[in-house]
Amino acid sequence: MAILFASSVDDPEAWRAAFAARAPDVDMRVWPETGSLADIDAALVWRPEAGMLAGLPALKVVFSLGAGVDHIFADDTLPGVPVVRLVDPALTSQMVEYVALAVLHRHRRMDDYRAFQARREWRQLPACDTASRRVGIMGLGEIGRACANALAGLGFPVAGWRRGPGRVDGIECFHGADGLAPFLARTDILVCLLPLTRLTEGILDAALFAGLPPDAYVVNASRGGLQVEADLMAALDSGRLSGAWLDVCRHEPLPPSSPLWRHPRVTLTPHIAGQVLPETAVEQVADNLRRVRAGLAPRHVVDPARGY
Ligand code: GLV
Repeated sequence: MAILFASSVDDPEAWRAAFAARAPDVDMRVWPETGSLADIDAALVWRPEAGMLAGLPALKVVFSLGAGVDHIFADDTLPGVPVVRLVDPALTSQMVEYVALAVLHRHRRMDDYRAFQARREWRQLPACDTASRRVGIMGLGEIGRACANALAGLGFPVAGWRRGPGRVDGIECFHGADGLAPFLARTDILVCLLPLTRLTEGILDAALFAGLPPDAYVVNASRGGLQVEADLMAALDSGRLSGAWLDVCRHEPLPPSSPLWRHPRVTLTPHIAGQVLPETAVEQVADNLRRVRAGLAPRHVVDPARGY
């Protein structure tokens, strides 16, 4: 049996080397060089071409080359096999680092100090006590919980918002439509880590920004489809938001004509908050592949109805 690798951003040779080191029995084929389709019982994919997975008659499982799975469910012809998200502690650590970087950037007024530096101006601004800078995390999955705990460990008052009820020790939790307004009202730095689904698409819009306190800051390290970019620009231009830090955009790569590139209050990175490292991520994929081939259910299967 064989696993089909299909991604335009991940390096197939690095994955081949990772399988060779950790699971040398795995036969990895790279799309579109599939060999016999009847051999392929698993696929390891990032943004697979629509229809590609439906064309694999022996397919038993699809592995995402990322924590998110929206890029797989975007294919209407997806066969009804389990879809598995990547849960890798090394990926979670990268996300924690990235979110801490963005939050600390805002907290320590780095947009202002960069502007002063550009003007060769030696100027000090008043500091804000960490204990009074309220951080709010939307999405309390594996990554959201790790970020919430790390930021709480730095001394920020952290709250989280999620779709359904749930508890995270030491973190004030809000949920559902009713919990959104009070969550936003107490959030100075909003960090979005929600999965992209039918229900979350465009959630970062003018109405949501209006619910935040004046001078709030927004970080999106999840998916560009969560943000309404015209509303974000308007909120930045009017001063409703003090700034935004985006790892993702609705259209990636971000077109050169986008005003986000040059906005003085926007920090942009090219979807690098959490980059999959084959040498660590291969563990979960190889383990799950063994389970599926032994007739067991894989771990970290997502719910197709919820989309995460
Ligand atoms: C990256 O965007 C991921 O889904 O891990």
